[in-house]
Amino acid sequence: MTWYARITGWGKYVPGRVLTNFDLEKIVDTSDEWIRTRTGIRERRIAAPGETCCSMSVAAAQKALEVARLNPTDLELIIVATSSPDYLVPSVASMVQDRLGARGTPAFSLVAGCTGWVYALVTASQFIQTGAYRNALVIGTEHLSVGVDWTDRTTCVLFGDGSGAVVLEASEQPTGLMAFDLGSDGSDYDALIFPGCGGVHPPSHEVIDQRLHYLRMDGHRVFKFATRVMADSVAKVVTASGLTIDDIALIIPHQANDRIIELARRRLGVPPEKIMVNIDRYGNTSAASIPLAFVEAIEEGRIKPGDRVVFVGFGAGLTWASAVFHWEPQEPTAIAVADWPIRERLAQPIARARTALWSARVSLATRIEPLLLPLYAFAGSYKKRRKKK
Ligand code: UT7
Repeated sequence: MTWYARITGWGKYVPGRVLTNFDLEKIVDTSDEWIRTRTGIRERRIAAPGETCCSMSVAAAQKALEVARLNPTDLELIIVATSSPDYLVPSVASMVQDRLGARGTPAFSLVAGCTGWVYALVTASQFIQTGAYRNALVIGTEHLSVGVDWTDRTTCVLFGDGSGAVVLEASEQPTGLMAFDLGSDGSDYDALIFPGCGGVHPPSHEVIDQRLHYLRMDGHRVFKFATRVMADSVAKVVTASGLTIDDIALIIPHQANDRIIELARRRLGVPPEKIMVNIDRYGNTSAASIPLAFVEAIEEGRIKPGDRVVFVGFGAGLTWASAVFHWEPQEPTAIAVADWPIRERLAQPIARARTALWSARVSLATRIEPLLLPLYAFAGSYKKRRKKK
């Protein structure tokens, strides 16, 4: 028996407190103009005292369970992706399991930086596709406002808090997860890091004095990495799914910087309306950003049953991940079921060839373009010099 993992429930939670760029101007040496033009962020949500990853996750999960019409007691697996948990131990997933009333349900947290939710989604899908579990709750949550250094303008203007959740359920019909691409390059582990929150720098006065317990990021290194892997991974996963990029209704990327998203969009050659962007309202919510954007896309009617969507994330590790999902929140009808696989199979050989070509072009452009940048810069300054003459 082949099982498929489809999304049947979704929900989000963001704190009520809004922190605008103008508010930040009063805290650090920055400006609304700098933040907007360099990142696309206008405001972010900040958890109130007492709000934590656990409470935000429970709020998002309850909505997702309601949409799926599933009782917490029916849940068979809970995975929570986060890099800013309430405690290092125990995992926030166990606390969520308890607060939801999902008695005895296996629960664990997963750390893959901003990529975490896609990793968790793919992991949960494996349990369902093997027939081990009939459903799973997958949450992405962050409480980064407690992890950033509010005196460091290079990071504190970027991040926000929130949670997004989906329910996955087993289906006999071919739907849900179609393909995925997971990756990691630990040689850049220190490009995005909480240096003083583990065994290398255990708690000490020195750690606090040097502010090592706060998030540190080498923005340039992560930016370069992100623009490369985002386009590359989407190209790869679309090819693996046997579809073409034109078959994809919406790409839902990690919301780290609208310039990263725009560069990747151009490399992929997709129109702006096929990319979900909500970074202006929430900033970078790390592992929560893709599920938050996904839930908003559903609420805004940007995805309809039968659509194929791509989730793509990148972040600490450094890691990346993407997944193609066939969006069929209701069990497909008998007619659609009879139709769907045959149509797909006929279209596949042609689509694969077309997509492989397109994928090769994107990969090549992604690798060659950075090498050409110095040439572009030289050509620009040469033109200027000639004009002056
Ligand atoms: O979610 C995980 C993945 N994370 C990412 O993908 C983040 C990737 N990186 C980025 O998005 C960008 O690198 C940043 C948004 C973090 C930074 O943008 P940038 O265009 O690379 O700026 P920069 O670091 O090159 O800084 C340019 C200037 C510097 O001043 P000087 O040296 O040119 O005088 C910075 O000191 O902007 C200054 N600067 C700021 N100015 C005002 C840096 N942060 C700020 C600030 N306000 N908040």
